[in-house]
Amino acid sequence: MHNDIERVLFTESQIAQRVRELGQQISHEYTKLLGEKLSQEPPIAVGLLRGAVVFLADLTRAMTIPVEYDFIAVSSYGMGSTPGQIQLLKDLEKPIAGRHVLLVEDIVDTGQTLAHLIELLRARHPASLKICALLDKTPRRTRNVTIDYVGFTLAEDAFVVGYGLDYAERYRNLPYIAALKKSAITT
Ligand code: IMP
Repeated sequence: MHNDIERVLFTESQIAQRVRELGQQISHEYTKLLGEKLSQEPPIAVGLLRGAVVFLADLTRAMTIPVEYDFIAVSSYGMGSTPGQIQLLKDLEKPIAGRHVLLVEDIVDTGQTLAHLIELLRARHPASLKICALLDKTPRRTRNVTIDYVGFTLAEDAFVVGYGLDYAERYRNLPYIAALKKSAITT
């Protein structure tokens, strides 16, 4: 285990198992929704950069339906700072009007980022918008957001890293999800 890790919350095999289940569930529900139209109008998995990249790569490979990729990036605020206006750093490459969009998020904490993204994407009139988040961290939630597909729920206010999640751009490549030691947090 990495020296800066306090405790592993979800192991590599627990994540793999859960991602497989989500991939199957999502495939099943889009097949029900779109039927034969799936091949002409595959859903677009929109990954939130950079934290959702690892999850999106595994999730979409666990899906058994056609899917397109696009990516979006917004400014994030550091731990402990006040959530403010969220800015779009990188927009989608393609229009989503009339398309089925699956927004893939790494972690929902206060819900500010997700609420902002939902508003932004809805204004572009997708045919449908569903949300998939690897982690639903509930204790600091201030916005009432509905997450259609949740990997794991985190009821404690731990700062977690690994499987795409970072602290100051580090630890994204850890294969598990873990709480970081307080001593590794410098701000
Ligand atoms: P929210 O807007 O408060 O829901 O924050 C969502 C964003 O904050 C996520 O997309 C992450 O980039 C970041 N974030 C929140 N909690 C954590 C964490 O425990 N580890 C790593 N990043 C986090």
